[in-house]
Amino acid sequence: MNPSDGVVSAAPASLRAFAEKIAIDAGLLALEGRRKLGVGQAVVHDTKSSHTDPVTEFDEAAEELLVAAIRQARPNDTIIGEEGADYVGTSGLEWHLDPIDGTANFVYDLPAWCTSVAVVDRDGPIAGAVSAPVAGELFSAELGGGSTLNGAPIHCSAAHDISAALIGTGFSYLAHQRVAQAKRVNRLLPQVRDIRRFGSAALDLCMVACGRLDAYYEEHLNSWDLAAGVLIASESGAKTSNFSGGSATPEATIASAPGVHADLVALINSPGS
Ligand code: IPD
Ligand code: CA
Ligand code: CA
Repeated sequence: MNPSDGVVSAAPASLRAFAEKIAIDAGLLALEGRRKLGVGQAVVHDTKSSHTDPVTEFDEAAEELLVAAIRQARPNDTIIGEEGADYVGTSGLEWHLDPIDGTANFVYDLPAWCTSVAVVDRDGPIAGAVSAPVAGELFSAELGGGSTLNGAPIHCSAAHDISAALIGTGFSYLAHQRVAQAKRVNRLLPQVRDIRRFGSAALDLCMVACGRLDAYYEEHLNSWDLAAGVLIASESGAKTSNFSGGSATPEATIASAPGVHADLVALINSPGS
């Protein structure tokens, strides 16, 4: 290991193990805060991109924990966090952090939220971890090393019939973007088994990775929403892309069982959607 790399080496397996550890720690910190309130009691929150886009003291505390750990272990890496972390490093590795993905669920005491931690090099994500503390579930992957849920290998579904596929999606916090998203759902709904909107993009991608969804699509995300989940999905055997079949991007993300990918792309792009 190069000493300038810090105490965690740049090998994907080491980065994955470290990402797992800090994702668990940050998720538990948030969960502890949440549990101090009664069931269903809303967490006090501020708002960001719109009046429906919440942020809590726990988003900020969880990001602080992640950043402090990364700064100590990998001082020369870039860090980009949803709550404002912005360190420019020299190592060529970037950490993309979503301390709580699914903050609206967290505020309402719904269980579908997680901490998402990804390490990205110039070609894309190389290691990632998604910790869902209410369920006690940890998803992770490293490039070429497969995906796991609580240490056991996971695989996407074998779905091949889009009309029987269970599809996840999500919606922007911005009303004008929701108009187009609503039209697309309207178009898809009669053509598939059903649609799910869990409220956490990172978890949606992990749901595809372990076969709980056959596919997921969303647009207008940020890098911290999808970097870990896209790697976990693709390492599970899922096909990931944008809406035209190129690489998945925050602007347009699809992850699906390979057998329904082409049909989903066609439906997403079908006239009127
Ligand atoms: C949001 C969730 C949601 C998705 C939104 C994201 P946040 O992230 O992932 O499922 O539909 O686009 O912004 O704000 O809870 O971290
Ligand atoms: Ca998010
Ligand atoms: Ca977030």
